[in-house]
Amino acid sequence: MQTSESIKPDRVKQPVLAERALAPLGGWHAHDWGVTLTLGQRKLALQAISNDILRLVLCDDSGHIPASTVAVLPDAVQSRAGRCAVEETDEEVTLRLESWTVRIDRQLGKFDVTDSRGSVTAAGMQLFSPATGGVGAVLQAAPATRFYGLGEEAGGLDKRHEAYTMWNSDVYAPHVPEIETLYVSIPFVIRFDAGVASGLFLDNPGKTKFDFRSRFPAYEVSAATGGFDCYLFAGPTLKDVISAYTRLTGRIELPPRWAMGYHQSRYSYETQDEVLALAHTFQDKEIPLDAIYLDIHYMDGYRVFTFDRNRFPNPQQMCDELRDMGINVVTIVDPGVKRDPEYHVYRDGIANDVFCKSVEGDIFIGDVWPGPSAFPDFTDDRVGRWWADQHDFYLQRGIRGIWNDMNEPAVFNETKTMDIEVMHRNNGYPRTHRELHNLYGMLMSKATYEGLAEKLGGERPFLLTRAGYSGVQRYAAVWTGDNRSFWEHMAMAIPMVLNMGMSGIAFGGPDVGGFAHHTTGELLARWTQMGAFFPFFRNHSALETLRQEPWSFGEDIEHIVRKYIRLRYRLLPYQYTLFREASETGVPIMRPLVLEYPDDPATYNLDDQFLVGCDILVAPVCRPDLRCRAVYLPAGTWVNYWTGEHLEGGRHVLVDAPLATLPLFVRAGSIIPVDLGESNRPGQLALEIYEGKAGEVGEGRLYEDDGLTFAYREGRYRDRQLTAEFHPDHVLVRANATHDGYGQADEECLIRMHWRDGTVSEAIGRGSSFEISLNRLA
Ligand code: GLC
Repeated sequence: MQTSESIKPDRVKQPVLAERALAPLGGWHAHDWGVTLTLGQRKLALQAISNDILRLVLCDDSGHIPASTVAVLPDAVQSRAGRCAVEETDEEVTLRLESWTVRIDRQLGKFDVTDSRGSVTAAGMQLFSPATGGVGAVLQAAPATRFYGLGEEAGGLDKRHEAYTMWNSDVYAPHVPEIETLYVSIPFVIRFDAGVASGLFLDNPGKTKFDFRSRFPAYEVSAATGGFDCYLFAGPTLKDVISAYTRLTGRIELPPRWAMGYHQSRYSYETQDEVLALAHTFQDKEIPLDAIYLDIHYMDGYRVFTFDRNRFPNPQQMCDELRDMGINVVTIVDPGVKRDPEYHVYRDGIANDVFCKSVEGDIFIGDVWPGPSAFPDFTDDRVGRWWADQHDFYLQRGIRGIWNDMNEPAVFNETKTMDIEVMHRNNGYPRTHRELHNLYGMLMSKATYEGLAEKLGGERPFLLTRAGYSGVQRYAAVWTGDNRSFWEHMAMAIPMVLNMGMSGIAFGGPDVGGFAHHTTGELLARWTQMGAFFPFFRNHSALETLRQEPWSFGEDIEHIVRKYIRLRYRLLPYQYTLFREASETGVPIMRPLVLEYPDDPATYNLDDQFLVGCDILVAPVCRPDLRCRAVYLPAGTWVNYWTGEHLEGGRHVLVDAPLATLPLFVRAGSIIPVDLGESNRPGQLALEIYEGKAGEVGEGRLYEDDGLTFAYREGRYRDRQLTAEFHPDHVLVRANATHDGYGQADEECLIRMHWRDGTVSEAIGRGSSFEISLNRLA
């Protein structure tokens, strides 16, 4: 707790020391790959990676371009031969580098970057050396410019007037709007000016800052250590920018279907009997469940890659029994390996020289759950493989899902992390922890994911992580760490996960119900309603908090929670298709309205409601005792999911929201693939069609595969374009298989046409492609 003493007059900050601009422009030099500029004493290289990606990177002291971090996919930065044309005046130099134009003020060293369409990607950008060291850039913006992205941060959707520090941190509390660092660092921002978007990624895994406050409306990005390696992304749309950023840093892999279902966790389910009883309760109560998590109590003295034999006498038998019920086990795995000469993993780690060390060669030991522990140096691929091999322990017992926690890395000391002077191996290019801090968690996930992918014999791994850096989406889903059972935290999860999605992390979600503090029945009901529409859907709570399994607050709440978990499964074919789309394009599953309605200013900072794909609109109730809420419906016609009422958009509507009802809307004209079985085992497929205007053609997509293996990569999937042609008295529904490598040839699909008047007509579509006409009921 802080008192007023923290703002005592003598505590005011020292005046900021003068910074030095990198100026003037000394000259330039064209190469076959791009151009180098001399700015002050430094050289800045410009590489046109593609029409929509331009790299600006400060050369090192010997004039070389530093290597990219692991965030960047090696294939993505094969720069093309950089044809460059130059025009000069006394004041300015204009470089045309492929499709990019860079206009530089000779004296100030400031430059504007425009893309092939003439849109400004960076305005008045000026590099500078802060007096405190490192390097930064100031960029101009307009007062109305919006900023999105930046991964997992507290606060609202639009980051204007805020400032963030990228330094992965174990923040148990407080998750408040003014907290500037959390567990994940994504130094990528999207700027958005009146419908036109562009992006900037600063590839530096040390401490970086994004400040949209101090120089408003200009903004600043800076790095405390290391170089300035920055990518600019052209729009014009938000989706274009996200797509370009994820082309550079990668997209989510399609997870197994079970990873998209409902997951139950607790710190901790402490015994084998408790876990089995939990699973049976779900079964008895007919609440579908895909995974149970084992938190740190499953281990022997918190030693990773062990089971406590008293609590879990036969993990294999437990996993087999659960698997028969369709439930997977996910075990927590932290990076800290207990310093214990009688512990085989520690001994093996010493023998193989895998742990992080100081430059003098002393192993870094930090306190975490097991007490003094050593930390594998994941910056060395050899260590990553060693770590991956330890997972045989879980795989042999039937465990397929892994949960990486405390991987900022968290250490129970004053700095909350590893000594910044630890010298990482970095595959032969040693760097201090200070320079690589933000990579630690991602590299742990990379090692784990790649190991599991290799060992699972064709099955898709599921990995969850707390910490990460740009590119982490390639390996793991991300949950938002230790929130609390506060209504405010439920509300904050919306902009947080929306911005994660716009930063490449399409598979994310908070602890549903809240982790710390005590939930209430009402909060659990409301949060489950919302969580059912987030990409990652896990209920998790902390030691000594009130229990928050679906039945913990009596039958009425249980009924509501069951209803929404089942709804999640009902809509899984729709969600599954969106996961596939995210893996192909990077466009997130859960979307802010601005992504689909960029010309509507009412959406620019709208973060108490969201879209799933572009057809479902969710407006959660994030206050207690509220039984109605205002919902903004964007342009078009929207159908109230519960009442069938058609409402014209472009306005706010007041919607009834009794506790059992989540305000939920479907776009008129949409085709939503659903699973009528509403359970964790695939059931009868149906298409729910919501009447659009006569003359309109509704469009949808349905992607299917085995939900478990990588066979889809060999073409074993079915992808269908769906259309619904609306006529005054009938609708013509077509399914057209654009790829037909999965499923039965004569498979049946129920078609349910929801007419505007509330009536529903049904028909059966057979096979992969079909065409069916359904008449309006008399
Ligand atoms: C951390 C995690 C939390 C977990 C706990 C015990 O606080 O964020 O999810 O339950 O550690 O492992």
